[in-house]
Amino acid sequence: MFATQVGSDIQKAIAFLQAGETVAIPTETVYGLAANAFNADAVVKIFEVKKRPTFNPLIVHTHSLEEVHKMATAITPLASQLMEAYWPGPISFLLPRNHQVIPDIVCAGLPQVAIRIPNNQVTLQLLQQINFPLCAPSANTFGYVSPTTAKHVLQGLQGQIPYILDDGPCGVGIESTIIECTEDTIIMHRHGGITAQDIEKIVDAKIISGTPIHKKPLTSGQLKSHYATNTPLFFDEVQQHINAHGDKNIAVISLAKDYDGVTNFHLSKSKNLSEAAKNIFALLRKLDGQFDLMIAERMPNEGLGIAINDRLHRAQATMK
Ligand code: TXA
Ligand code: MG
Repeated sequence: MFATQVGSDIQKAIAFLQAGETVAIPTETVYGLAANAFNADAVVKIFEVKKRPTFNPLIVHTHSLEEVHKMATAITPLASQLMEAYWPGPISFLLPRNHQVIPDIVCAGLPQVAIRIPNNQVTLQLLQQINFPLCAPSANTFGYVSPTTAKHVLQGLQGQIPYILDDGPCGVGIESTIIECTEDTIIMHRHGGITAQDIEKIVDAKIISGTPIHKKPLTSGQLKSHYATNTPLFFDEVQQHINAHGDKNIAVISLAKDYDGVTNFHLSKSKNLSEAAKNIFALLRKLDGQFDLMIAERMPNEGLGIAINDRLHRAQATMK
């Protein structure tokens, strides 16, 4: 057990990380639970604290392309162009792993390593002052809603980690996009902060969808409950769900619309999907436990709406 401290002291965070402990760090997407990616014993603690199955690999965070080259054995021109355009930023690349430096536990033994340079000044400063990269999944108990403030992290992990490096609410609010770039094709493994349209602006390549890791047979059943709240959540077909549960105390999460006979919560009154992404996880946490059920509207299937719909779809899966 730790007396978990929350603060903005980068040196304190560094001291814990150097001692092989886990520390929550701010990123522009969600708060991450970080540990020294070169130290397998430290990385194991991430899985223990989060109660995350070890077959679920972690994203490695670093501060420069030079460091990325040390951890990956090849980077295609397509990947390079996108790194140039969007790093630091909310996009992770699956790259052939340099087995000499990245331990198996980080990548669940897989041949690739996921890497990103996060766009948060505090975390970038921290990364520049240490001589190892950080692997970091979202800093929440496995399966629950991702944290976008230091307080969210504390609610889930108090007593289990020594330090939470606080830099206010996350600006993007939804996890990074995960892609793999071949010579001419981009495989989208997870929709996130950088949209398909953002990618198309930079490169002329075919974009196809990959099998999300949570849908692979190995993990089926266990990863379905990702982002799940304790209060049941229905996704889409809002009015039908309202009609079917008329006697219940219902919270409806919509972009900007009001439904009758329920309590309405709007993700963005101006229908701005970036604002909606920034708000979604905090709203799910705020409403959790306050209503009999939640019903979330499907966002427009464009831009960040695609990533939000993916999270909401997965949040409802436990009900089945
Ligand atoms: O925005 C983000 O990406 C946040 C912040 C903290 O940076 N991190 C994050 O990590 O969302 P996490 O653990 O929730 O997502 C890691 C996912 C895995 O579930 C898997 O889908 C994919 O990234 N992944 C990571 N390493 C991989 C690998 N070596 N091979 C295949 N997929 C990998
Ligand atoms: Mg996560």
